[in-house]
Amino acid sequence: MVDLELPEDERKLNEKEMVSLCSEFLDAGTDTTSTALQWIMANLIKYPRVQTNLYEEIHGIVAHRPNSKGRTRKKSW
Ligand code: HEM
Repeated sequence: MVDLELPEDERKLNEKEMVSLCSEFLDAGTDTTSTALQWIMANLIKYPRVQTNLYEEIHGIVAHRPNSKGRTRKKSW
């Protein structure tokens, strides 16, 4: 963003414009992501079979990975 040049004006962005763009990225990224996650959760509750598949897929990957002490989790939670 620091090196970006506006082709029509042939100039770089000033500090105010960069701050405004960063704020736009944060705004555009937070509400959409939280809404998408809420819909995902609602649909996982509505479709328990999908929830089980997802659980098994995640569990199949993370359950067999050793932790920082080199131990592998044995118990299912
Ligand atoms: C599930 C998450 C997201 C959904 C559903 C979503 C959806 C959308 C949609 C529909 C648009 C309009 C596109 C258009 O009219 O051309 C858009 C634009 C935009 N999104 Fe997202 N978005 C998501 C995540 C994010 C994230 C994580 C960021 C930033 C880190 C982001 C930044 C932006 C920006 C800056 C624009 C405006 C782009 C432009 O002006 O051309 N969005 N988004």
